[in-house]
Amino acid sequence: MSRDKSPRHSAAEQQSSDATEAQIAVHWPEEAYIPPPAPFIAHANLADPDVFERFSLDRFPECFKEFADVLDWYKYWETTFDASNPPFWRWFVGGRINACYNCVDRHLAAYRNKTAIHFVPESEDEAVQHVTYQELYVRVNEFAALLRDTFGLKAGDRVTLHLPMVAELPITMLACARLGVIHSQVFSGFSGVACADRILDSESRLLITMDAYWRGGKLIDHKEKADIAYTEAAGRGHTIENVLVWQRYPSRYSSPTALVEGRDVIVNDLLKTFRGKRVDPVQMPAEAPLFLMYTSGTTGRPKGCQHSTGGFLAYVAWTSKYIQDIHPEDVYWCMADIGWITGHSYIVYGPLALGASSVVYEGVPTWPDAGRPWRIAENLGVNIFHTSPTAIRALRRSGPDEPAKYNLRFKHMTTVGEPIEPEVWKWYLESVGKNKAVIVDTWWQTETGGFLCSTVPALHRMKPGSTGPGIPGIHPVIYDDNGNELERGCGKAGNICIRNPWPGAFQTIWKAPERYVKTYYARYCKDTKSKDWRDWPYMTGDGAVEAADGYFRILGRIDDVINVAGHRLGTKEIESAALLVPDVAEAAVVPVADEIKGKVPELYVSLKPGIEPAAEIAKRVSDQVVARIGAIARPHQVVIVPDMPKTRSGKIMRRVLAAISSHQDPGDVSTLANPEIVDTIKELNK
Ligand code: WTA
Repeated sequence: MSRDKSPRHSAAEQQSSDATEAQIAVHWPEEAYIPPPAPFIAHANLADPDVFERFSLDRFPECFKEFADVLDWYKYWETTFDASNPPFWRWFVGGRINACYNCVDRHLAAYRNKTAIHFVPESEDEAVQHVTYQELYVRVNEFAALLRDTFGLKAGDRVTLHLPMVAELPITMLACARLGVIHSQVFSGFSGVACADRILDSESRLLITMDAYWRGGKLIDHKEKADIAYTEAAGRGHTIENVLVWQRYPSRYSSPTALVEGRDVIVNDLLKTFRGKRVDPVQMPAEAPLFLMYTSGTTGRPKGCQHSTGGFLAYVAWTSKYIQDIHPEDVYWCMADIGWITGHSYIVYGPLALGASSVVYEGVPTWPDAGRPWRIAENLGVNIFHTSPTAIRALRRSGPDEPAKYNLRFKHMTTVGEPIEPEVWKWYLESVGKNKAVIVDTWWQTETGGFLCSTVPALHRMKPGSTGPGIPGIHPVIYDDNGNELERGCGKAGNICIRNPWPGAFQTIWKAPERYVKTYYARYCKDTKSKDWRDWPYMTGDGAVEAADGYFRILGRIDDVINVAGHRLGTKEIESAALLVPDVAEAAVVPVADEIKGKVPELYVSLKPGIEPAAEIAKRVSDQVVARIGAIARPHQVVIVPDMPKTRSGKIMRRVLAAISSHQDPGDVSTLANPEIVDTIKELNK
């Protein structure tokens, strides 16, 4: 059993806690509360404590009408919540809506000349582009016309986007949304092969990419990956019709990779014939899928989380307004990548649905130095800032005194993606927030569309290292491994689930409804015949404890997923990639603690008979993982071992490897089939 528990648990505790998750004692000291600053409370969008009463469980599901009312509907829905086919919940049934209209058109009257997107190129020599709502409207319409009239795209078609952090990415997403086309954006750091996996699974008609982009001072050839993705997908049975290439610098092609005649189209050239074209937003059913977002799971295949139009947009708009506390006059910067769910929900759809100004930064946060984010924030007047513990740790390590040099005026800051150490949290508040900001530690997932737990910034006191209670309308519950509810606030660890459905939740796994039920609902559903939503708690796959005050502390994944720098990587994906090297017989990956990234994968491989261990093989394995998945999955180390520690039934004991990697005591190994191997492996990984 390989379980990724809190880094604070010793291996010995992990060993003895093999019994049940729930018995893990949690030894962290409770942190003192910090109240939100009075000026924040005075201007907060949500300062009325009645909200918790309005969203109590007995007000479910009608309470969520308030979420949908943040949006403009063509046709109001008839049924707020349809539970007739659990757990395939349907929200705002009968309603008609367009996500692009809500993020663009409806703001023109009041905010035509306001910046919608500040695009900040990585190079400080290159000017920032301020795309106004009017300009966004024009560019989205022209590109939507191009997609419809040249390529015949229509509602329900899928397209894969493999775009870097440039203004063209939200423009492309919104153009798709305008047509009801389902976009599937793949993180630009993922390899061409990883992109092909997602093209194949979604059966996308087009791949939309960019020639090049800047990262760490280098102009990266990105088009190269499109060719790999195309060829790989074609070889596995799905041929993309066309590859659309945006130019990083319009009217110049910046990639050394040749264009393929008849297949590749330079978007910027073709757009010239669409100047001034307008496209009516397609009035989509609330339940129509808006996008797919692939995420890692316990098996090798990434899961295409299917998000709805009405429910998703309502959820991210409401939470952007009341948890992110975005007002129209705010300048908001979420430093995530749009290739992950955080960027979809809280760079693009949520903030733009509210008419906010949202920053899109192309490059590395510490490029060219750790003062960069603070210069961007100062120059644009950012007052709401949103990032991950990994980024905060990196900025703190390489420039602890940098924020003091800038006139930062953050009133609100978010952390998301992994647990944050109280020390790091305090630096964030004191140095970056200058003790004038609130911090929300938002816990959620690709599947959940938006925040699950967080403090409501003007209503709760902050507690470093804890996410907070469920947000209004979200009712978490912790179960032990036997399916018993843990007593509320008992401070014991267990598996955190959500009692009730909510509008932002994904609808299913694309083309894999059984896997959806099995992964998220089967374990704690008491009666699979039941039509009552109360019998279908949503299993998040995270371990957590609830303190007496109702605040949750998230301990990490309980399944085979490694959270690297806030991004989920499936252990099976990494192991399958290693097995593609012909010399490798077996592979096992474990998480090891990393000062900056939280966790990084460390890989153990054994070789086929007759093959001698060599550094060159380890390098090939590492390169293969990067080629297959992307640099984010690069193993910290590849250790070649003569054999894996195994149970008598032949199962690899990843727990033992994890202990060795963390230089901890692997505990009692006498039940292994080959206990002597443990010392050998310890020697190899000193
Ligand atoms: C982890 C990212 C602790 C958690 C939005 C979850 C967190 C996984 C937090 C989802 C947080 C996310 N504190 N852990 N505030 N936020 N996680 O799908 O393990 O990329 O299940 O979504 O990240 O990662 P995903």
